[in-house]
Amino acid sequence: MKRQLGSSKLEYFSPDPFSFIRELRKKPSKSKIIDLSIGAPNRPTPPWIIETMKNALNEVSYHTYPPQNGSSELRKAISDWYKNRFSVDLDPEKNILITVGIKEIVFNALQALINQGDIVLIPDPGYPTYYDASNFAGAKILTYDSKASPEKILEDITLVLKKNRVKAIIVNFPSNPVGTIVNIEFYKRLSTIAEEHFCIVISDIPYYEITFNDSVAPSYLQGNPSLRNAIEYFAFSKTYNMAGWRVGAVVGDEKIIDLLKLFKSKIDSNVFYPIQIAAVSALRETPQEYYESLRKEYKLRRDTMVGYLEKSGLEFHMPDGAMYIWVRVPEEEDCWSFVEKLYLNTGILTVPGIAYGPSGKDHIRLGLVQEVDALKEAGERILKYISNQNNMELEKIRIRSVKMQEK
Ligand SMILES: Cc1ncc(COP(=O)(O)O)c(C=O)c1O
Repeated sequence: MKRQLGSSKLEYFSPDPFSFIRELRKKPSKSKIIDLSIGAPNRPTPPWIIETMKNALNEVSYHTYPPQNGSSELRKAISDWYKNRFSVDLDPEKNILITVGIKEIVFNALQALINQGDIVLIPDPGYPTYYDASNFAGAKILTYDSKASPEKILEDITLVLKKNRVKAIIVNFPSNPVGTIVNIEFYKRLSTIAEEHFCIVISDIPYYEITFNDSVAPSYLQGNPSLRNAIEYFAFSKTYNMAGWRVGAVVGDEKIIDLLKLFKSKIDSNVFYPIQIAAVSALRETPQEYYESLRKEYKLRRDTMVGYLEKSGLEFHMPDGAMYIWVRVPEEEDCWSFVEKLYLNTGILTVPGIAYGPSGKDHIRLGLVQEVDALKEAGERILKYISNQNNMELEKIRIRSVKMQEK
């Protein structure tokens, strides 16, 4: 009998939209590539962080295995950050675990917390790893519509919690891919509902610094200062352009953090010490103006792209934060065909919406991950492509009606 090489659980990851993009970009396109697919900031890590890293590299005692739960300096810096930024009290020893970026903990936390058949409630559309991790953990997935207003999202969540025994909910604001933001009141109400139904809340806030309407994105823990049954993922990748550095943290309820410490101790040995020291300098040395100019830059990028999308007639969801635009594909297309045609005809790479959940089958995600000039160029190309397509459609209709008249 032929033996299967891989675990059958790997079938959960197929078809993988990101492999599709990698294959697609090997094909020749009509114009130079403008990559708006992966959500990696295009700018370099700020120099003070790089300088700290360089100096830390010279410290030979940092070259060994780092402390299993992360350096005490970084845990303390995150605790201070939560106090100053969010007025939330975290004990660096008990409530904080350093992680290898946050993608790994998005995945690993569900493996540590979920039994086969447990119900998890996740956003649709939402970050792809929520789906992969839930499937791999054997969870039953229920979803809420993350395109809805915050009020409607709360209503949806309440209804699902009343009808089902949900073990964990994942929330992500500002959200990927739709860019919704919520206020502390939302989190307070969510916390009350979750508490009533003994449900864990997992909050994922990699985009908390990127908001466009002068409001500041809160932490879920502001809505649940007791931390009970709550964890939150704290990232460096987007705010400090540190996507490649692979450092992050999970903070929250000591009991859950203990489980995650145990689970992760079987899997990895935490993050290279100099990277953790550099992450400390990100939190302690970054001037306020940096955050303001970050927000200004992403807002300019959003407004630039929105201008072209409006002219093109494509439908899209207006983001209030994060770094993406969620665009509906033209009627006759699906997400795969539109991503492919857009790339082959214009050189613009985007992500098929299905990567973010079932409701994404007729959407694409467009990342604001290039400079404004490149986004203007991308916008021009999209506009031209869509108006050519529309003209071709009109021409087809005209020919069809001439033929009908001739009959
Ligand atoms: C919602 C969300 N969570 C987590 C991550 C992963 O972030 P990190 O680079 O820290 O692993 C991303 C990255 O795109 C994201 O969009």
